[in-house]
Amino acid sequence: MGKFNGKIALVTGSSSGIGRAMALRLAGEGATVVCADVNEDGIHETVALAEALGAKASAHTLDVSDEAAVKAALEKIVSDHGRLDILMNNAGVAYKRWDLTQAVNLSGVYYGLLHAAPIMAAQGGGAIVNTASVAGLAGLVPALAEHTDPRSVERMAAYVSSKHGVVGLTKQFAVSFGSAKVRVNAVCPGFVQTQMTSTMRESDEGLSYMQDLTPMGRLAQPEEIAAAGAFLASDDASFVTGVAMPVDGGYFAR
Ligand SMILES: NC(=O)c1ccc[n+]([C@@H]2O[C@H](COP(=O)([O-])OP(=O)(O)OC[C@H]3O[C@@H](n4cnc5c(N)ncnc54)[C@H](O)[C@@H]3O)[C@@H](O)[C@H]2O)c1
Repeated sequence: MGKFNGKIALVTGSSSGIGRAMALRLAGEGATVVCADVNEDGIHETVALAEALGAKASAHTLDVSDEAAVKAALEKIVSDHGRLDILMNNAGVAYKRWDLTQAVNLSGVYYGLLHAAPIMAAQGGGAIVNTASVAGLAGLVPALAEHTDPRSVERMAAYVSSKHGVVGLTKQFAVSFGSAKVRVNAVCPGFVQTQMTSTMRESDEGLSYMQDLTPMGRLAQPEEIAAAGAFLASDDASFVTGVAMPVDGGYFAR
């Protein structure tokens, strides 16, 4: 018996990286997964991987910064499956301009919460896991050359503020929907080996920068973040709501 047998889950940003690992983790434990992303090819690959695990899975092309599209995606899931038990609000961008970063990382997560939480409340409960970041709990340490470079300042400020916003949304929706049995939590990954860190990993300096900030001395694999996300989405976390859980190799222990 899988932990998520009979559960219907939507995972945004599931074409690659952490979102793909989350979709596969839930699928491997029995969930039916709807894989959503702007990258259409990637979601079909994730669906095929989930089906290879014996799960039911489908692909939904979705830009999370489009509120009407997010609402329509959720309505389609309810119409197709009768319910929505789990939302992994994971899609995100990094090192982008201010407006795009806020639109995807902050508004995208907000639209998911705004339209999924009432669906879950009406059916008697559910679980939402937002992917924040260590950058949702503290400022990022700039690499030396980046300290005052205006482009880097904008991009780091955009990312950090968007992820702090995700932590705030997590707390507010946990409080607002607590009595309706909708649990809302966030995972706060440290540096993870995904596309998002690929440019940094290309140079020895970039790799050392990330490893040196991490007491465990390495980057996380996406599956290690997915494991924490799956815990928060599961009944094992039945009394956990409103937390922003670092999954960071000791980043915050220093
Ligand atoms: N990689 C890290 O070190 C790290 C650390 C902390 C937090 N995070 C967060 O983890 C989440 C997943 O990132 P990742 O590391 O797996 O990177 P990734 O680039 O592999 O995955 C991000 C996914 O989001 C999708 N996406 C981007 N914009 C979208 C939009 N508007 N609508 C729908 N999908 C969109 C991309 O197509 C991609 O598949 C992000 O929220 C990111 O901020 C990553």
